[in-house]
Amino acid sequence: MSDQDVLESNEGVGVDEPGLSGRLHRSQVWRSMFRHPQQDTPRGRALQGFSNFFLHVYPVKIPRRVLRNRYSWRLGFISGVLFLILLITGLYLMFVYTPSVGAAYGDMQRLKTGVGFGQLIRNVHRWSAHLMVLVVFLHMVRVFYAGAYKHPREFNWVFGIMLLLLTLAFSFTGYLLPWDQLAYWAVTVGTNLVKYVPLIGNPTQNLLIGGDQIGQSTLLRFYALHVAVLPAALVMILGIHIWRVRKDGFAVRRSNVGAFEEDAVAQPAAAAPAHAAPELYGGRVRLLGVVDRESITAEARPVDDTVFTWPHLVVRHVVVALGTAAVVLALGVAFSAPLRGLANPNVTPEPAKAPWYFAGLQELLSRFDPLVAGILIPAAAVMAFVFLPYLDRNPATEARNRKVAVTLFSILLSLAVVLTVVGTFFRGPGWQWIPPWDHWYVEL
Ligand code: HEM
Repeated sequence: MSDQDVLESNEGVGVDEPGLSGRLHRSQVWRSMFRHPQQDTPRGRALQGFSNFFLHVYPVKIPRRVLRNRYSWRLGFISGVLFLILLITGLYLMFVYTPSVGAAYGDMQRLKTGVGFGQLIRNVHRWSAHLMVLVVFLHMVRVFYAGAYKHPREFNWVFGIMLLLLTLAFSFTGYLLPWDQLAYWAVTVGTNLVKYVPLIGNPTQNLLIGGDQIGQSTLLRFYALHVAVLPAALVMILGIHIWRVRKDGFAVRRSNVGAFEEDAVAQPAAAAPAHAAPELYGGRVRLLGVVDRESITAEARPVDDTVFTWPHLVVRHVVVALGTAAVVLALGVAFSAPLRGLANPNVTPEPAKAPWYFAGLQELLSRFDPLVAGILIPAAAVMAFVFLPYLDRNPATEARNRKVAVTLFSILLSLAVVLTVVGTFFRGPGWQWIPPWDHWYVEL
């Protein structure tokens, strides 16, 4: 349907509507902004889907199963909402932050008293960033167990891995900006890892931190990456990711549609044999003649398992978005983002921990050779994840028919979780084993 058709279909909008709202809806200004009719009919909803910019991201109709929470747990959507919250709060913080070693820490302190809602916005920004790392990771785990990375979504999985790496880079570059002891040493530990890459390790580390030691050049580089390069890259790749989800369709089971074949979508009573008693059809049958029993064939009525996106999915998304915003706001009100003393290269805090999402890596490093633990294992893991859809040739999507892949992935996942929990909660000064109930050395 062309835009012109949509416009024409809008001709009669508000004709029957009395009063001020009718006049408003009939006005040229209104109709130039909202080209679709407001009628709540199947046709009206379809036209709204075609012609509204925001609804256009969605298909007009979706399989009913997409509405179930357990299809995706809305994790991809929640990741997107968190990213939006980060963009908005980050923009606010940009107005008061100077990426200079002399000023950054003071700006952070000023947020507490000298800037309207400054501390709250910083808190929300920080908790949203931590949550985004967690939720994006969980989204990846969900996609894996659902087998949703299989044909035709292989390359969207690869885009997903890029998004995960970008999310980590986002969080890590932001970590340095408060320029306090926590920031300084977490980033020192993190960037020291790069040194272990054979041949290019040292030059890469220099490029990243702009010298031998973290200082003004590092702060400026991390700032530029955090507020310009990474947002631009993430927005671009996220655009392609969502566009592909839209084009490939949601990976839910449907009868004879898409990558997920036949499934137990309930068949309606139409499949009942045609020679069944007339009462079965509500008495709506006529006897037209006497024919051979064999000449009557029972044909199942096609099943329409779709519903309109607007309002069914859109309303759910609005609720989830508001819920996500409420959670990060509550976290921001309840817990303040940490700010330790001013960054001091001469005083190493004990323990100097990397951010929690790299604590598993730090734990590995404490046990193995740095080249193995810091470079070879993470690089192999990233490569295995990137190429997973091409290595896993089994077309089945149900977990029970993918025992090898599911077992391997579950082992890797458990290892990563155990290492992260140990590194985050059970390590103290000198990387000694200290249970969290004896002393809490968790830095967020
Ligand atoms: C910034 C991070 C990300 C955002 C905002 C995001 C967003 C989304 C959204 C909104 C969907 C639609 C279904 C849903 O709500 O779950 C989706 C689907 C998908 N995502 Fe992501 N995603 C991100 C990262 C990832 C990662 C890390 C992976 C995997 C490595 C991934 C792989 C996929 C795949 C394969 C689909 C299609 C599966 C389906 O249709 O059920 N995404 N993503």
